[in-house]
Amino acid sequence: MTQTLTFLGIESSCDDTAAAVLRRTADGQALILSSVVEGQSALHAAFGGVVPEIAARAHAERLDHCVEQALAQADLGLGELDGIAVTSGPGLIGGVLSGVMLAKGIAAATGLPIIGVNHLAGHALTPRLTDQLAFPYLMLLVSGGHCQFLIVKAPDVFQRLGGTIDDAPGEAFDKIAKLLALPQPGGPYVEQEAALGDAKRFKFPRPLLDRPDCDLSFSGLKTAVLRARDQVIAQNGGIPLQDRRDLCAGFQAAVSDVLVEKSRRALEIYLELQPLVPALAVAGGVAANTHIRSALQALCARMGVRFTAPPLRLCTDNAAMIAWAGIERFVTGTVDPSDLIARPRWPLDAAAAGMIGSGKKGPKA
Ligand code: KG4
Ligand code: ZN
Repeated sequence: MTQTLTFLGIESSCDDTAAAVLRRTADGQALILSSVVEGQSALHAAFGGVVPEIAARAHAERLDHCVEQALAQADLGLGELDGIAVTSGPGLIGGVLSGVMLAKGIAAATGLPIIGVNHLAGHALTPRLTDQLAFPYLMLLVSGGHCQFLIVKAPDVFQRLGGTIDDAPGEAFDKIAKLLALPQPGGPYVEQEAALGDAKRFKFPRPLLDRPDCDLSFSGLKTAVLRARDQVIAQNGGIPLQDRRDLCAGFQAAVSDVLVEKSRRALEIYLELQPLVPALAVAGGVAANTHIRSALQALCARMGVRFTAPPLRLCTDNAAMIAWAGIERFVTGTVDPSDLIARPRWPLDAAAAGMIGSGKKGPKA
């Protein structure tokens, strides 16, 4: 690759409206010229989850503004771009459609090529944007809407080793926070409380560890925490501070143990490929959890594998990752037709599509 490429990225598949301008230099380095993310948490807060109709309307209202801001911050006009990358699935269809329609409009007006990007590929290719990781590497995607192990072999070649059969881990953190009257999104608050709790007091299950595969489950764990909480309330007429901390610590330890053990299994499968520089990358909002992060780091150290975790602003939903994934696909010769469609479901590895679940943030594909 000898060409410098500058792409506009557009993301609107869930509850973040985002636009970014990213430049990939001839030597493969990424320069994020701008990255604008307008979250919608406040709009959905009263409903306990993302409301698709509210999300779609907010995306439609905000996308133009985000794109204008991204171009202004990058100090570039549309004429100075080489292409447009847009999330064309999977996700909440109203939001995905808003982004795809806008991208098509800009492409029609400017003649720029348009690349439809799989949102999950955006996450999965981020370690190349941040750390220039070489293929193949193992990716653990853990967020409020996603949970899967992927061997990333090329910009559009992914082998899915396993994933959640019910909730995503972030979703479980959020539900536990709700059970314990902590604010949303709950992950950071549960982590904060857990740091002051005794992880051994409550004996919570480590679901699916009896199965030798890389699939995960978090819904039974959530129910176990609910039962323990109800017992605490029955005994005390409320949840004393230390009990809340111990519940959080026990829950977080269970999630961490499951992620570490399933990562170990996924790494064993991945290492059979004999990669030159073996690497595990973690992405998604839950990757912000210091306890989980250091447990995964320790596992990698034991197994002689490089560990990387992109900075949080690039772990969570953003459009820089979409622009990057678009450039990666463009370089392999992919350009989508002007009738590019929005796909609510779009598994990265079609051969492993059987495990699809659905949670509060929509299809996980
Ligand atoms: O990737 P993300 O921003 O959004 C999508 O799900 O697409 O992830 C958000 C999720 C939320 O469920 C949030 O509670 C969780 O990541 N999260 C955390 C932490 N920070 C955010 N979970 C555990 N510990 C954290 N420190
Ligand atoms: Zn995402």
